[in-house]
Amino acid sequence: MANTLGRFYVTTPIYYMNAQPHLGHAYTTVLCDVMARYHRLWGDDTYFLTGSDEHGDKIAQAALACGESPQAFVDRLSAAFRETWVRLGISSDDFIRTTEPRHQAVVQRILQEIYDRGDIYFGSYGGQYCLGCERFLTERELVDGRCPDHGTEPTRIEEKNYFFRMGKYQDWLVAYLTEHPEVLQPEQYRGEVLAFLRSPLEDLCISRPKSRLTWGIPLPFDEDYVTYVWFDALINYISALGYPEGERYARYWPVCHHVTAKDILKPHAIYWPTMLHAAGIPMYHALRVHGYWGVDQAKMSKSRGNVVRPLELSDKYGVDAFRYFVIREMTFGQDASFNEEAFVTRYNAELANDLGNLLNRTLHMVGRYCEGMIPAPADEPGAERQAFIERALATPAQVQRAIEQWNPQAAVLTTLELVRAANLYLEQRAPWAAFKRGDVAQVNTTLYDVAEALRWVALLLHPVMPGKMAALWQALGQEGTPRWPDEVAWGILQPGAATRRGEVLFPRQELALDEAANQA
Ligand code: MSP
Repeated sequence: MANTLGRFYVTTPIYYMNAQPHLGHAYTTVLCDVMARYHRLWGDDTYFLTGSDEHGDKIAQAALACGESPQAFVDRLSAAFRETWVRLGISSDDFIRTTEPRHQAVVQRILQEIYDRGDIYFGSYGGQYCLGCERFLTERELVDGRCPDHGTEPTRIEEKNYFFRMGKYQDWLVAYLTEHPEVLQPEQYRGEVLAFLRSPLEDLCISRPKSRLTWGIPLPFDEDYVTYVWFDALINYISALGYPEGERYARYWPVCHHVTAKDILKPHAIYWPTMLHAAGIPMYHALRVHGYWGVDQAKMSKSRGNVVRPLELSDKYGVDAFRYFVIREMTFGQDASFNEEAFVTRYNAELANDLGNLLNRTLHMVGRYCEGMIPAPADEPGAERQAFIERALATPAQVQRAIEQWNPQAAVLTTLELVRAANLYLEQRAPWAAFKRGDVAQVNTTLYDVAEALRWVALLLHPVMPGKMAALWQALGQEGTPRWPDEVAWGILQPGAATRRGEVLFPRQELALDEAANQA
């Protein structure tokens, strides 16, 4: 979706602080980081939020199991998440924790607002409660009496609670999602939500009695209750912006893009819009939903012992290789399966071979034939050259379109095609043979063109692999960091610039399976 305001706000879900970060969390966070970095590269005023969801039953129980207080427990896990993001090169602008006073104050304010408007009432409720989902499941959601997501039998709970009149906003929500198809994409997920909304929408239980759970934000209108964790958590997206008076709220809320996997579609596509509407807050700009990572065609789970830890992979193969792989491998919206062998194969074929070798060969020839300096191209309009430059010229717009359409995989693949075109061009023009013939113009023009294409690659893939692409940029004798669009023009590369041959950009990797680490 084109961003007309020149501003971009992107959010990850705030992850539950009941376990260490794994591949799924890392994927969403890297994806949001890549999107934020493209927008920053284009000069958009960009804000990127992530954070931690720290209240609720699940966390209270996990803390108990570890013999820690809930606060000490979430402090420890939240620090582990933050450290992981730093090590994965995540450029978030803020990290919100739901135990922070700045968040709690906004949750209480919104609860009071909706209560005063008459959309929160007190009532009795008996239902099937799933601890994993932290919500009551309706009869039609159960499969053979079990939660379809957790495979566990829900617990029957009867208690008095507060309810949000969510059902009242069903018609509004259906109309909104129908009239604004771009708000919820890919289409299959919008279809799922609209199908769900064909049956009556029940009101949402938004409290938990303190007699059962104390680890939550107190309701401002009844001290015997705390807030249901989802009602608390969703509000992070605006509390972090300083809602309602905050300057950041005014600036970024109109361009908010939420990103989640399909597991939490319902809270984001149903609870959150109706909560916003009831509180008189404008709807978010977009919700983008991606599929689920499995491992070797199976579900990733602790009990299976196949949980993929992102830091283990980035320590072994490099952070940029990890980022590249997850973005390149998953088609946005569809499920994907992780396999370490496939990771190493892709790395060797695409990064070590296609891109890394192209750079090595180019630098080697520039060293041998041009004294290590970018040569000046001859004004030579041959057909091969014309075709190659045209291929290059088409790439930035294709990358930009792919990113605007939330298809980062296509942005990577289209850049990879440019790399392959440069390899082909090098073969066709064989500067090594031209050198032997003494055809200096052909040598210089070819090496210039390939170096210029590589400079573009450094720029086009910078958001995906910031460290490696900065190294590529510098290897070509460029200073500072790439800028777009100023530097996406053919011929910006200055002849005479001194290339730098440092370490090999993408050394070949061997598969290094570590079974012991996987069991931990
Ligand atoms: N705390 C809630 C979110 C509140 S947002 C207001 C929550 N936390 S979670 O820790 O369970 O994170 C769920 C999210 O983690 C998914 O939506 C997705 O972003 C990411 N993933 C977790 N496992 C995943 C996969 N196996 N595959 C892809 N993404 C996954 O739900």
